[in-house]
Amino acid sequence: MTLILAIESSCDETACAVVRDGKEILSNIVSSQINVHTLYGGVVPEVASRIHVENISTVITEALARAQVTMDDIDAVAYTRGPGLIGSLHVGVQAAKTIAWAFNKPLVPVNHMTGHIYANRFVAELKFPLMALVISGGHTQLVWMKDEWSFEEIGTTGDDAIGEAYDKVARVLGLGYPGGPKIDKIAKEGKPHYSLPTPKTANPYDFSFSGLKTAVLQMIQREERKGEKINIADAAYCFQETALTSMVKKTIAAVHEYQPKMLVLAGGVAANSRLRVMMEEEMAKIEETDLIIPPLYCCTDNAAMIGAAGYVAYMHGERGGFDASADPGMLMPGEEE
Ligand code: KG4
Ligand code: ZN
Repeated sequence: MTLILAIESSCDETACAVVRDGKEILSNIVSSQINVHTLYGGVVPEVASRIHVENISTVITEALARAQVTMDDIDAVAYTRGPGLIGSLHVGVQAAKTIAWAFNKPLVPVNHMTGHIYANRFVAELKFPLMALVISGGHTQLVWMKDEWSFEEIGTTGDDAIGEAYDKVARVLGLGYPGGPKIDKIAKEGKPHYSLPTPKTANPYDFSFSGLKTAVLQMIQREERKGEKINIADAAYCFQETALTSMVKKTIAAVHEYQPKMLVLAGGVAANSRLRVMMEEEMAKIEETDLIIPPLYCCTDNAAMIGAAGYVAYMHGERGGFDASADPGMLMPGEEE
């Protein structure tokens, strides 16, 4: 049995978890800063770092207590090294190094995006080759995994990440932060009233969302010039349908070409209720590939997912030194130049 203490602080959640053998959550403590950042309409990096400093010790103590273990029982300390906000990451990195040094435990640096993918390990045993659609506030990637702990990006966004587009469109529609869940909710009352341009990319598996975001902004301005007010639910509906239809089509095309045993969704946008239905409908037509969708609690940022990926990294012999620092632009293993 291997027990991992995992620490995550890449953006605006301060989190710590204890995970057994990469698949069983003994505790998963997340202290969210959303209430504070909502006041500013988005994450303020300096504020995020300061709140991480205030909360990190508490979430670690709480994670150990809830799991009913002490540091003596822990085999390794895994932490998010990147990608993310440098000041935020720094707090988790320092906490992980301090606790590993004090209790003489190995340190395992983890890429946050691999964490999102391995969150699916709490739902099912992963089957390879596997395709992951990684969709968050900072990333939109199709990742091909021939085997466990092998990552090849076959598509990415040339501009905005999908979560970023949700957040920006929500802001111009006056829905507030974070925009993803707000658009998800209000779009349920919307109708296909407006037409928006389908994103175009040179590589069929790449994504683009900034043109669509600009089109929503121009649509609002056009209505205002006519002296009319935009229907927010209809605009949210049309933005969401256009963004998701394009993303789902690309993903399904990649599944047809690569023929993975499993397609997994990963990252905050995987919480989207419309996307989950669209994916289930499309994947029901493809018998050879199973679809795994993570539960809502492990779509958005948490430390249990870092424990799941950290376990696999630990088993693959990955270790970090006490001289390691945060890596805000960190690439996935195997992607390093
Ligand atoms: O994975 P995550 O928690 O943090 C990053 O690694 O970026 O993802 C956060 C993103 C935000 O852009 C948020 O608006 C989006 O995920 N999100 C959603 C939903 N819930 C969160 N987007 C669409 N629909 C949702 N229900
Ligand atoms: Zn994330």
